[in-house]
Amino acid sequence: MTPWMVLVLFFVTERSGEAVTSGNVLWSVKRNFIPDFQATGDQMAMTSVTATSGACAALCTVGDWCNSFSFAPGNGTCDLYSLQFINNGSAAVPSGDVKYYTPCKDECPQSENFIWDRRSDLCFLVVTQPAVGNSWLEANSSCAARGLALVSLNTVHKLDAVVRTLRNNPTLQGVDYYIGASRPLSRWNTAFPASGQDYRWVNGDPVDTVSARSYWAIGNPDNNFEQENVLLLNRLRDFSIHDRTATSDSPAAYICEKVIN
Ligand SMILES: *[C@@H]1O[C@H](CO)[C@@H](O)[C@H](O)[C@H]1NC(C)=O
Ligand SMILES: *[C@@H]1O[C@H](CO)[C@@H](O)[C@H](O)[C@H]1NC(C)=O
Ligand SMILES: *[C@@H]1O[C@H](CO)[C@@H](O)[C@H](O)[C@H]1NC(C)=O
Repeated sequence: MTPWMVLVLFFVTERSGEAVTSGNVLWSVKRNFIPDFQATGDQMAMTSVTATSGACAALCTVGDWCNSFSFAPGNGTCDLYSLQFINNGSAAVPSGDVKYYTPCKDECPQSENFIWDRRSDLCFLVVTQPAVGNSWLEANSSCAARGLALVSLNTVHKLDAVVRTLRNNPTLQGVDYYIGASRPLSRWNTAFPASGQDYRWVNGDPVDTVSARSYWAIGNPDNNFEQENVLLLNRLRDFSIHDRTATSDSPAAYICEKVIN
């Protein structure tokens, strides 16, 4: 072998350890994230032993609940998780020979801290800095200024992806989060119409308060004092959905969505 060939082989081996493809999903090694994130809550769903990272990727790819996995080449431990590892802005790489993989979608770059949920195909960004004046309208335009939209959680799978990400990540739990649902501006600070609540998602869908009931706080939306006009995930209630005034009296950050295709 010439030195040149050795170099090429080494390169190929390294690359294959950094990314694996299974089905039509590309899984790549995650570098900047909070190692502790894997230890909490319900995101760890299955452990097995596989021969290669590719075999571990295959197990994850077939389960539509699986959003990330780790593989330890030394002993073949393959852990599948229903959530993703989140960037914490540092370059920390976990110790040991464990590698952590997340699914990639070009339109939803992890390098910009987007999280892609495979099952719902939702690409979202958790912004932890409160909106100016804790204002929903400011949050709505801040997402728009980034070319994004305040997130429409119009399916149970989207709700699940966002709420469980917050519930399982201690670094995201200091604030409430506005989501992309409001009453028509012309009806702000009025009673609900006789037909029921009049919320709509930013994407135009009506808000269904019945089918995703487990994500709603009991008794909400209640339009308290007829002054509640927008929806928010409440940190004091396990990030269940509450209606709230459009300028909250507690720190209100927000979640944007990158609308794909
Ligand atoms: C497998 O190896 C990893 C990395 O060295 C280690 O963290 C983990 O505890 C090992 N698991 C088992 C079951 O031995
Ligand atoms: C990010 O993770 C590293 C490594 O665990 C830790 O030292 C650092 O404090 C974390 N940063 C934040 C902002 O949580
Ligand atoms: C919220 O932002 C969207 C763009 O994402 C815009 O179309 C809409 O008018 C805004 N809503 C309000 C009430 O300003």
